[in-house]
Amino acid sequence: MNILLHRNYQKPSFSTDPLNRNSYIRSMIVDLRSDTFTKPSVKMLDAMFKAPVGDDVFGEDPTVNKLEASVAALFHKEEALYCPTGTMSNQIAIKVHTQPGDEVICEKTSHVYQYEGGGIAFNSGAQVKLIEGDRGRIQGPQIAEAINADDVHKAKTSLVSLENSANRGGGSCYGLDEIRKIREVCDRNQLRLHLDGARLFNAMVAKSQQPKDHGELFHSISVCFNKGLGCPIGSVLMGNTEFIRKARRIRKVFGGGMRQAGYMAASAIFALENNIERLKDDHEHAKKIAAALQRKSFVGSILPVETNIIIFAIKSPSTPKAVADQLKKENILVIPISSTQIRMVFHLDITSEMVEKLIQIIEKMEMETTVMA
Ligand SMILES: Cc1ncc(COP(=O)(O)O)c(C=O)c1O
Repeated sequence: MNILLHRNYQKPSFSTDPLNRNSYIRSMIVDLRSDTFTKPSVKMLDAMFKAPVGDDVFGEDPTVNKLEASVAALFHKEEALYCPTGTMSNQIAIKVHTQPGDEVICEKTSHVYQYEGGGIAFNSGAQVKLIEGDRGRIQGPQIAEAINADDVHKAKTSLVSLENSANRGGGSCYGLDEIRKIREVCDRNQLRLHLDGARLFNAMVAKSQQPKDHGELFHSISVCFNKGLGCPIGSVLMGNTEFIRKARRIRKVFGGGMRQAGYMAASAIFALENNIERLKDDHEHAKKIAAALQRKSFVGSILPVETNIIIFAIKSPSTPKAVADQLKKENILVIPISSTQIRMVFHLDITSEMVEKLIQIIEKMEMETTVMA
């Protein structure tokens, strides 16, 4: 089937004619709201169309089986499970690792606590103990202090959940030594250690780390394919054989047993083969834009840019909303994430040309925001 005949596929508009170039640049939409806005490329769609498929609930989808085996091997874990979303992967992991009434230790801005609809309580009947971290990252001694004593009055601490890179920490990343120390605390206290690695590939590229480094340190890891890797859906959860056996059952209970999911799994296989190395381009783009923002008087502190996310403050009297509205007029889409901050996320649909456009707009902006204020 010719992909270009697919009725929902829109060929990106691009003009090389210099006369039309200015209007082309002006009309170009630069969507920095999240890396979840990426759309599959023609080559990715082609790989998906050609995928051999079967009924995955029966374990008969060869493409899903291939993806699960490849990801498990990559991270040196025994087995893996393909899930529709990162939220489901995380929630399944928490359900497997805990019993109702248990306590999960995590950082106070972590996705599992803030953005999964209260899932820890809803799905697992567990409660959380929040730790204030440094840009989303927590340390071994903080965790040791947060573990409850073996006391009938207290919830049983059973799980620590980390996030790497940390979304609300501005894409900050853990060093392997920090994780090693956390794992030691977990081992000393019979706790399980889960990683929400929705953007782990970003972190590994930025820190030159290997998947097996993480595979050895965590009892379970979830990675997402539906963010900077450009797939329409999908996440993979990894762990040992017994963990994945339980996880597979819970995925079914959560309604996540998919049938011919190989069409989607093929997008993840394509992403593993083609879209990892290039994440460094997104990181460079983010750094360039952060440097441009740094020069503006309306911009306050910018969280250190380690990967593909920039979180920066807007100085009063201007506001994040006013700046976002101003950018929107130029077809630049960003999200005000608090009353003082804006977030920009770079990804594979953001070209160097778009980055140049954004730099030019930022350079012009100061006057406009001063007037607005
Ligand atoms: C850090 C983190 N974890 C998990 C998720 C959940 O992923 P999904 O949208 O696939 O449920 C997200 C989504 O943005 C995320 O940023």
